[in-house]
Amino acid sequence: MKLGVLKETKSNENRVSLSPNVVKSLISRGDIVSVEDGAGLGSSYSNEAYTLAGASIVSASEIYNNAEVILRINAPSDSEIEQLKAYTIWMSMLLHKSNPELIEKLAAKKVSAISLDAIPRISRAQSMDVLSSQANLAGYKAVILGANEMGKIFPLMMTAAGTITPSKVLIFGIGVAGLQAIATAKRLGSVVEATDVRPETKEQAESLGAKFIQVEGAAVQSEGGYAKEASADYLAKQKEAVNKSLFQADLVITTALVPGRKAPVLITEEQVKQMKFGAVIVDMAAEQGGNCELTESDKIVVKHGVKLVGITNLPGTLANVASELYAKNMATFLNHLSTADGFKWEMEEEITKGTVITKDGVILIN
Ligand code: NAI
Repeated sequence: MKLGVLKETKSNENRVSLSPNVVKSLISRGDIVSVEDGAGLGSSYSNEAYTLAGASIVSASEIYNNAEVILRINAPSDSEIEQLKAYTIWMSMLLHKSNPELIEKLAAKKVSAISLDAIPRISRAQSMDVLSSQANLAGYKAVILGANEMGKIFPLMMTAAGTITPSKVLIFGIGVAGLQAIATAKRLGSVVEATDVRPETKEQAESLGAKFIQVEGAAVQSEGGYAKEASADYLAKQKEAVNKSLFQADLVITTALVPGRKAPVLITEEQVKQMKFGAVIVDMAAEQGGNCELTESDKIVVKHGVKLVGITNLPGTLANVASELYAKNMATFLNHLSTADGFKWEMEEEITKGTVITKDGVILIN
């Protein structure tokens, strides 16, 4: 198949959907790969690296005109949709549940749109799961960002001048990002506590050396690996359970998300007021409204003496490795859906059924 890698046009996006290594593997399966001029630069992949891997470097319009499959990280903008030819296959993250208008526009253009964030959470799809590969890196980066904003250090340090006690880190949400944040904060020497609505996360947090904060008498159902929305009663009980730890924490990392919904508010202004002066909150849910009600998206602000870090797209700040993992997910997914001769369109197969959002002008998933 003729695959085209378009440059990302969203602001603050440095990633690219295929790395030179992965281009090489797709070419060896028989695909022809074109890469837009400069598409890899934000990820430190030069045009020469792609050429050496066997790709051609072309303009965006050549990709729109000639590629059978266009690969990207982010969804197309309105002006990009205009340039798409009918029956082109578009593969990227689409967040289709929160973007119905985008899906209608793609269908109207008779584009077949495949969403990488819709890959079902089943064991055999793990190697294709871009949400996991990117969230894992984001969890690591959240701790590093927090460390950079703190006036303290993580480990216990005994020096001739005196002893420094280890920092206390509290993590909300023990999913992929939260687990990596626990592991990273522990490796750096801090004392870590964590909480989640899903009771099964207790064992996972403890296995990494964190103390689990149990919310008594409550658990929230999960569906397809994702948490459902917590009730007001649960959120009130959670506040009671975590407040002691929250008010002593030096760094708080929040990762709690509920798919297709605004992020749950887990830290109110009243709670921030009672936190340690100089504490830091890294709010990984900033793009979805924030887990702290004082977070400002893409800003670092200080409120009531607490520093709130609302930087979005953390994987994009680690573009070199984030692109390599995204590209590997993409190649495994492509190998699942197609051969070098074309797509199989096995519409009853679970992964295909869950990810083909539009096909030839018809919306298959809302
Ligand atoms: P996510 O990004 O949707 O949410 C992050 C975490 O926040 C979750 O653990 C969720 O339970 C938690 N959360 C939601 N509301 C909360 C609240 N009010 N208070 C505290 N915590 C709250 O989840 P993520 O990280 O993408 O994965 C969730 C689970 O799915 C994990 O157990 C993971 O191992 C599993 N998974 C399985 C895959 C597969 O089998 N292919 C692929 C990806 C994840």
